Amino acid sequence: MSHVLHRSLDATLPTVVGGDGNFLIDESGKRYLDACGGAAVSCLGHDNERVRSAIKRQIDRVAFAHTSFFTNEPAEELASFLVERAPEGTGDGRVMFLGSGSEAMEAALKLARQYHLERGEAARTRIIARAPSYHGNTLGALATGGHAGRRAPFRPLLMDVGHIDAAYEYRMRHDGESEAAFAERMANLLDQRIRELGPDTVMAFVAEPVVGASLGTQPAPRGYFQRIREICDRHGVLLIADEVMCGMGRTGSLFALEQEGIAADITTLAKGLGAGFQPIAAVMAAEKVVAAIQNGSGLLWNGHTYMSHAVATAGALAVQKVIQDQNLLENVRARGEQLRDALNARFGQNPNIGDVRGRGLFWTVELVADKASKASFPAAARLSQKIQRAALDLGLMCYPAQGCADGTNGDHVLLAPSYTSTPDEIARIVDLLARAVETVLNKVEK
Ligand SMILES: Cc1ncc(COP(=O)(O)O)c(C=O)c1O
Repeated sequence: MSHVLHRSLDATLPTVVGGDGNFLIDESGKRYLDACGGAAVSCLGHDNERVRSAIKRQIDRVAFAHTSFFTNEPAEELASFLVERAPEGTGDGRVMFLGSGSEAMEAALKLARQYHLERGEAARTRIIARAPSYHGNTLGALATGGHAGRRAPFRPLLMDVGHIDAAYEYRMRHDGESEAAFAERMANLLDQRIRELGPDTVMAFVAEPVVGASLGTQPAPRGYFQRIREICDRHGVLLIADEVMCGMGRTGSLFALEQEGIAADITTLAKGLGAGFQPIAAVMAAEKVVAAIQNGSGLLWNGHTYMSHAVATAGALAVQKVIQDQNLLENVRARGEQLRDALNARFGQNPNIGDVRGRGLFWTVELVADKASKASFPAAARLSQKIQRAALDLGLMCYPAQGCADGTNGDHVLLAPSYTSTPDEIARIVDLLARAVETVLNKVEK
């Protein structure tokens, strides 16, 4: 019997004992092609030599020195690396390094509050976010996320966050509505909500530039984020981009927002930052936010013991250099096109695949019981989990999720393969996924 408090208390998990390129290996020797990076984490596969060496080198020098006494070289270099490559408009920003995406989201929310307090706008306390969305599991991040199922048990503990609809093209774009009109209509929901709450009370709007697990790799319609930027600026509201899942190259550019032509005031990063070799997350504050603190208290009102951990930042720095030196973003774009085309070719005519959506190496298939009405399968059927199981039997890891349609129902399966994926691996991913989907759908009562 295991004494680990696992996610499921009655599941029997295989024990992982090794990594080989984009494969994981369990104790029986079975190999799993990792098509989802666990949860869009392992963007360089599982055994990158350069990253492993960088981590070992740092441990041999010094692992930990508390940030109230020292800074360290890898944290300094990684912060400069990120700020130099940040979307235009970020200016001379600064970065804090933390341990998880949820921790980064908490720190981002507190930073937004500090920004307004430093500028004498104490009434700004309200957060607006989108639904569906996921921003983490700690209480502030959970309150911010728009995922009804995950929030439900903790509702009495959650702060009051206003949610607007995310731009979910498959279900929300009207017939005949142009992309521009859809973008404008969805972005204007923010303007309306800010006015309802009172512009002087709103501190931040939080959004994932490409929505991750909650909605299934949903990019925004063209022009949406430009309009969001204008609305935030008009009302003095900070824009927080949660790039924990979609950032660091996953969508084909280092920062997902680059492709929208705007910069956020605060950006959170995690998964692809360290690629899973070490736990690490980051909060990047744009120059405007840093300036407010510099002109105010001069102090960051946030701190954690393991901030700027030298081994974690050394690992992440090596990850980012590998991505840059091996030109892997080009591979993300090329293999991403291959993945998109292969998914459309394989699933386009399938009566139970309602939508194929994504960007870069970040793709999702959404399952429906009926294509014409877009009706979902009931959540209790646990279709996406069954597909994950069937795929695992075939030696493929994919990421199942539920709730995209209405917070509870709506099955989708997310793919986030490694940036080092080969054409053969992408073809194999689609082939195995199609077999897993077919196996499960054949057993479903229709
Ligand atoms: C968009 C987004 N934000 C925040 C988080 C929380 O990150 P973590 O699980 O590292 O706390 C996640 C995790 O999946 C995420 O996808």
